[in-house]
Amino acid sequence: MNNHQSEKVLKSLSPRQAGHPIADVFLQRWSPRAFVPLAMPLTDFLTILEAARWAPSAFNIQPWRFIYALRSNRDWDQYLNLLDPFNASWAKNASALVFLVSNRLCPAQEKNSTNPSNTHSFDAGAAWANLSLQSTLLGYQAHAMAGIRFDEIRRQLAVPDDYRVEIAVAIGRQADPATLPSTLREREQPSSRLPLNQIVFPERFACQPAATRGGTDQ
Ligand SMILES: Cc1cc2nc3c(=O)[nH]c(=O)nc-3n(C[C@H](O)[C@H](O)[C@H](O)COP(=O)(O)O)c2cc1C
Repeated sequence: MNNHQSEKVLKSLSPRQAGHPIADVFLQRWSPRAFVPLAMPLTDFLTILEAARWAPSAFNIQPWRFIYALRSNRDWDQYLNLLDPFNASWAKNASALVFLVSNRLCPAQEKNSTNPSNTHSFDAGAAWANLSLQSTLLGYQAHAMAGIRFDEIRRQLAVPDDYRVEIAVAIGRQADPATLPSTLREREQPSSRLPLNQIVFPERFACQPAATRGGTDQ
């Protein structure tokens, strides 16, 4: 499916509409489970990771690390086995699988010592956001998964103790939802979001801004 076709599917499935003007990519990014089982050029994959690399992080520590397999790699089946069975059932058609891990420790002021990091997962989340948006901009979609076998990932992929296993990500070209089994097909719908007036507060938590009080502002 090309960009234009997937945009058409997106619109026909459920209109996602922003309440205020935002760049198209924020609405075009979503998490489908229908993927075309095709190889991804390494250059595209590296562009997606390059975007993740430029995410901001506290003190510019860059705690994220990415461990990956492309579907043409001999590790592909092993990687699929590191997902829970539900996620493996659809992610098997993706073009790339990435495990995102982050360093729990950051350098301390004293030479050669470390402190626990308060922000390593938050920073890794920023890297995931960059990765997913760049995927969409290249005509792919990236689907994050927390349904993964954390202990096995650590063991099989040799993740050091200092690193937290965060998520897996399946990246691929979106396929027609008709390619999914019926239970998944019904769920293949872009979701909406809470309105701004439920998540943004002036002054104190849960205070409603006068501008949106009682309104339907999105
Ligand atoms: C950290 C994280 C973990 C997720 N884990 C899973 C998962 O294990 N399986 C799955 O099918 N979707 C998973 N998702 C996808 C979310 O359900 C999806 O992002 C959310 O419903 C919003 O929909 P959208 O991404 O299509 O906008 C995960 C998303 C995130 C960000």
